[in-house]
Amino acid sequence: MRILSGIQPSGTIHIGNYFGMIKKMIESQDDGELFAFIASYHALTSVKEKEVLQQNIFDVAVNFLSLGMDPDKSTFWVQSDVPEVLELYWILSNHTPMGLLERAHSYKDKTARGIASNHGLLSYPVLMAADILLFDSNIVPVGKDQIQHVEIARDIANTFNNTYGDILTMPLSKVEESLATVPGTDGAKMSKSYGNTIDMFGAKKALKKQVMKIVTDSRELHEVKEYSTCNVYKLCELFMNEDELKVMQNRYATPGEGYGHFKIALMDKINEHFAPYAEKREHFINNPDEVKEILAIGAKKASKIAREKLSVIRDAVGLNY
Ligand code: ADP
Ligand code: TRP
Repeated sequence: MRILSGIQPSGTIHIGNYFGMIKKMIESQDDGELFAFIASYHALTSVKEKEVLQQNIFDVAVNFLSLGMDPDKSTFWVQSDVPEVLELYWILSNHTPMGLLERAHSYKDKTARGIASNHGLLSYPVLMAADILLFDSNIVPVGKDQIQHVEIARDIANTFNNTYGDILTMPLSKVEESLATVPGTDGAKMSKSYGNTIDMFGAKKALKKQVMKIVTDSRELHEVKEYSTCNVYKLCELFMNEDELKVMQNRYATPGEGYGHFKIALMDKINEHFAPYAEKREHFINNPDEVKEILAIGAKKASKIAREKLSVIRDAVGLNY
């Protein structure tokens, strides 16, 4: 079974990204053959500064490698290092009705938010279809917002196969329903666009600032507090085991401590959780050539598969003569 997923290089990652996507993707290395790439071409739709894109690509690579992406087990590369995908993108464009793209939620949302419409933004799902179909992907783990894009890839594959025969593999999206949305410091969905994030690899001081911002009710030290509706407790649930959570519940039920104490308990757990990764991260940051070498090997592995598949597709449509 081949599992494929792409990550847009968007820089700073927060614990919502980690528990919502990254952790799941890294764990899927044990479920099948994982193909994971940094979606650099896709990022061009939003990142228009050279240095920012370069830095983001490197940051995402470092973060994923530190968090357990294993280049021996999986194929991990930068999308634009395997440009064959762009040829498939063009071939598939000719099997993509305009209506399909105009109806895409993500496109409609972006243009509704005032982002200027251009061809890259509109055809974004065709490139995503090419990513998926070039590698004969069976399973595509995605967040809810990306399900429609995988459906579009299926529609395109269907039209193509109806024209040329059974050449493209039908992908299935996989959404982990059990994964709750991680709340931000204000209780709403944690998102970099809401300024309510707790970053994974922030300095201790910055982490403290973010954790201390978590919104709670105004019950005082001498009062009993309710854990089940508390934002601090909800975040504790991500980092603590059952015994530790029971201890927290008792602390909420026993007068004498305030939310500041609970926040410190949370902060200690966050530090403890990410400390081993932070060490690895330092290593990769200080050894950029090692990171680039890993990505180059990944691109080589991906290229081989891409070229073979593309050759079959070129043949099917009549480009090999
Ligand atoms: P942001 O909302 O901060 O811009 P992205 O849209 O770049 O985050 O999300 C990247 C990935 O992280 C997606 O797969 C998304 O589903 C996941 N993700 C982002 N925020 C959360 C959250 N608060 N809880 C769970 N998953 C999240
Ligand atoms: N569009 C995806 C996102 O923003 C990233 C992505 C690009 C992707 N190509 C893909 C995800 C192929 C899965 C498969 O999250």
